Amino acid sequence: MARSSSALAAIENPQRKTWAVQFHPEVHHTKLGTDLLRNFVFDICHAEPNWTPQRFIDETVASIEKTVGDGNAICALSGGVDSSVAAVLVHRAIGDRLTCVFVNNGVLRKDEFQKVQTNLRDRLGLNLVAVDASDRFLSKLAGVTDPEKKRKIIGNEFIAVFDDEAEKLIRRHQQEKVSNGSGAKKAEFLVQGTLYPDVIESRSVRGPSQTIKTHHNVGGLPEKMNLKLIEPLKDLFKDEVRRIGRDLRMPEEILQRQPFPGPGLAVRILGEVTPERVKLLQEADEIVVSEIKAAGLYNQIWQSFAVLLPVMSVGVMGDYRTYAYTCAIRAVHSEDGMTADWVPLPYDVLRTISSRIVNEIRGINRVVYDVTSKPPGTIEWE
Ligand code: XMP
Repeated sequence: MARSSSALAAIENPQRKTWAVQFHPEVHHTKLGTDLLRNFVFDICHAEPNWTPQRFIDETVASIEKTVGDGNAICALSGGVDSSVAAVLVHRAIGDRLTCVFVNNGVLRKDEFQKVQTNLRDRLGLNLVAVDASDRFLSKLAGVTDPEKKRKIIGNEFIAVFDDEAEKLIRRHQQEKVSNGSGAKKAEFLVQGTLYPDVIESRSVRGPSQTIKTHHNVGGLPEKMNLKLIEPLKDLFKDEVRRIGRDLRMPEEILQRQPFPGPGLAVRILGEVTPERVKLLQEADEIVVSEIKAAGLYNQIWQSFAVLLPVMSVGVMGDYRTYAYTCAIRAVHSEDGMTADWVPLPYDVLRTISSRIVNEIRGINRVVYDVTSKPPGTIEWE
């Protein structure tokens, strides 16, 4: 029998084959939690450890082929791990009948619009439509300082842009069908990179975080456009998705990419998002990421990035007085983004980052380090 401070923590009834625990054996901090689960799965349930990435790939590709038939699919790609692995799996199954849409929302990182296209189109062979809608997003964001308003504007605009592209594609698919003389309308599918935690932890993932920040996705679109959903990763955790990606021979650069929020740099520019501020943050972010990579720390850290503050302060550059923006550096360890600890980056890495930012970027003259964990802070500043 197991007990926690005040109550029974585990029960068994071998005759009725029932075992239950009143704690979370699966969480990182539970001592022997994995042993307990292993014992239950293999010794009690006698399950076979026969999951392999290759087997998953073969079964998933076959099932997508069967589901989609001669239909078409579309996918909103961000260049991140989940949506890219989902797209590559579907592409294996139906080839160029999958069209991926990648939107430049004006708040991507430095050169990201170009880099993601090269990765997805040239290296992964995906059929990609890249839409540069930056002006459209930035003009909607002009004058807006409220974090939730920014998020809503970007979320809504994203859906509007994706909607336009999806409609064009669907119209084209239907015309092709008519000109082939093959009669009935083809089914249309929407591919999403939903993971298992999004499904099971709907309370913790969508609950508290939704009330704190509006997360951005393509919700609403499937019903409105009569699209059927394909979510090939919905039974997997992030580390399994990376293993699948490796077996699909996807570049490590994509598989190891740190998470990047849908509203992009907009939630890391406090105050108004202007083209000038986006440029400043893109430069600062590029320095942070390249120095963290050069120090061999990138893959060990959940997220590391720069934040542009609307705070101006006085500095001195040579013989001149400067009056410029402040940049904050944030680096956190996390298992799933729900909680996080700030990372004590080595002083020499911080020194190089700070000196490069103030010397190479005109417009930033002060760098500070964020030493707040989550909770009570959040990972992103907005
Ligand atoms: P917070 O800031 O809520 O972030 O502690 C937790 C994790 O979620 C990411 N994040 C987002 N991801 N759309 C996303 O796809 C969003 O709107 C969004 N907002 C935050 C954040 O980068 C961190 O990994």
